[in-house]
Amino acid sequence: MKKSMRHKHNRAGHEVKHHAAHITHASHAGKHLHFAHRDVIGKRVQTWIPQFDHLIQGGFVKDSTNLLVGGSGSGKSIFATQFLVEAMNRGEKGLYVTFEEKKKQFYENMLSLGWDLADYEKKGLFTFLEYTPIKVKTMLEEGGGSIESIIVNKKVSRMVIDSITSFALLFSDELSQREAALALFSMIRDWDCTSLLTLEEDPLDKNKSTSNALEFEVDSIITIYYVREARERQRYLEILKMRGTNHSNKVYPFSIGKKGLVIRNSPVSRVFG
Ligand SMILES: Nc1ncnc2c1ncn2[C@@H]1O[C@H](COP(=O)(O)OP(=O)(O)OP(=O)(O)O)[C@@H](O)[C@H]1O
Ligand SMILES: [Mg+2]
Repeated sequence: MKKSMRHKHNRAGHEVKHHAAHITHASHAGKHLHFAHRDVIGKRVQTWIPQFDHLIQGGFVKDSTNLLVGGSGSGKSIFATQFLVEAMNRGEKGLYVTFEEKKKQFYENMLSLGWDLADYEKKGLFTFLEYTPIKVKTMLEEGGGSIESIIVNKKVSRMVIDSITSFALLFSDELSQREAALALFSMIRDWDCTSLLTLEEDPLDKNKSTSNALEFEVDSIITIYYVREARERQRYLEILKMRGTNHSNKVYPFSIGKKGLVIRNSPVSRVFG
């Protein structure tokens, strides 16, 4: 499995070179830098989050494991749900695994953005799974478990785990966190499913505890900054890494509107961290 993943990345990497030429050309023309994704779209999984796919050559790499890092209230669960909802609107099946959110409350929150998860569930498009970190630990030891059977039986193409923070905290030191993360991610990689994992951590916190172990093992890292400005907090997003992808290196402001996240077109020149 590992080998085939590497193969995919190499293939994607090969196409990136082609894009680099296009991008240089576009910026010479004085246009705003947007990544064309005509050629790579077949192997990409679109998020349909407004403006986001442009930044990552059309979408996540198919079947990759992606990590979304942000502090409390930064917008992680909304981002993750939007990633599923947009696909479910197009007939794909989504799975939401959570250790923290309670179903009723979560469905109500998402309804405020116009996303009726109960309805998707009724149509067989959505599965909400409340899980305990200890169950994941058992799953790693025994293999598979209910997450795997849902993915296989229902043909789920997108999975969210929100958040993996409490799972990581089951392990006391960085080495065992890293081993557990490796085991979890290699299991996820074996499933034909593109996954988005959230990690609750302030990216500007210098003493961050869990992400070092996890960040190393994932295919991509997206960071959300939720920072206090003069009178209010503002949200920003940055792609720290995405294997096989010539992604934007800039920082983009975004807002949460009536229908979820909207990434702004123009990056900012602020420096974080
Ligand atoms: N309907 C809405 N319209 C606009 N903004 C909203 C709406 N619903 C939530 N928000 C904003 O999004 C925030 C919550 O986003 P979300 O739940 O995705 O954050 P999170 O990073 O998952 O937080 P947590 O750490 O609690 O899990 C709220 O605090 C609020 O600022
Ligand atoms: Mg959340």
